[in-house]
Amino acid sequence: MNRLDGKVAFISGASRGIGAATARLMVEAGAKVAIGDVLDERGRETARRVAGAGDAAIYQHLDVTREDDWNTAITATVARFGGLDILVNNAGLFLGKGIEDASLDDWHRLCAVNLTGVFLGTKHALSALRERARQSPHGSAIVNLASVAGLVGLQLDPLYSMTKGGVTLFTKSTALEFARKGYRVRVNSIHPGLIQTDMGEQTFVSRARNLGSNDVEAARQQAMSRHPIGRLGVPDDIAKGIVFLASDDAGFMTGAGLVIDGGSTAQ
Ligand SMILES: NC(=O)c1ccc[n+]([C@@H]2O[C@H](COP(=O)([O-])OP(=O)(O)OC[C@H]3O[C@@H](n4cnc5c(N)ncnc54)[C@H](O)[C@@H]3O)[C@@H](O)[C@H]2O)c1
Repeated sequence: MNRLDGKVAFISGASRGIGAATARLMVEAGAKVAIGDVLDERGRETARRVAGAGDAAIYQHLDVTREDDWNTAITATVARFGGLDILVNNAGLFLGKGIEDASLDDWHRLCAVNLTGVFLGTKHALSALRERARQSPHGSAIVNLASVAGLVGLQLDPLYSMTKGGVTLFTKSTALEFARKGYRVRVNSIHPGLIQTDMGEQTFVSRARNLGSNDVEAARQQAMSRHPIGRLGVPDDIAKGIVFLASDDAGFMTGAGLVIDGGSTAQ
């Protein structure tokens, strides 16, 4: 018996990075997975790679800021796999600018993906998640990608922190709302430290800029020194936590935040 046997998952922003690793581990754990992203070519390639010889993964074009895209993507996933047990709100943007450099357009773009995207995903997947929850002993699950930046202050990108703080409390509040209404949909958040993905690379560039240099390697070393465990994270570190929260093994967890950060916020 695998951890996610018989489950169907939708993961936003899963063409690459943490989302792609999660898609792979979920298929290995027995799930059928739909990948939604704006990077169509990369997403189709990820779905092919993750599915292997089988038909366990599909790709759906999805801009998380667009309500009609969510409607189409969730409907197509349910039509293909027969239902939906798990939603991972993973798509996200990092800005890497201080308050004086950030524009109103920057903020609107960040907000649209990191906050509106999570709201719309939750809203449009909810009815399918509730439907499947009726047949499952531990209900359905939503996992939201927050960040350590949604728990403690980080000087690198205050606007990103504001969106991730929003995701942290949206998670707790929807967990409470759904529990009160008897929906049997658990909602939890994940709080990664610095993970080596395209977004992780972006943070090194911003960090170097803050240090007044172009030395991205020095910025990487500085970031690493803030992780007591002695290394930066890799996508699988986070994907394993997402698989756990999405599975029935986390059946008594809702409204919680799982911190996977190499000890960075323990200090
Ligand atoms: N990498 C880190 O250090 C780190 C740390 C903490 C939290 N996180 C969070 O983890 C999540 C995944 O990050 P990652 O490191 O894999 O980043 P990434 O940049 O490698 O991947 C993000 C994915 O989201 C997609 N995306 C962006 N805008 C979208 C939109 N409008 N609609 C659909 N998809 C869209 C991108 O195309 C990409 O495939 C994000 O929410 C991020 O904020 C990352």
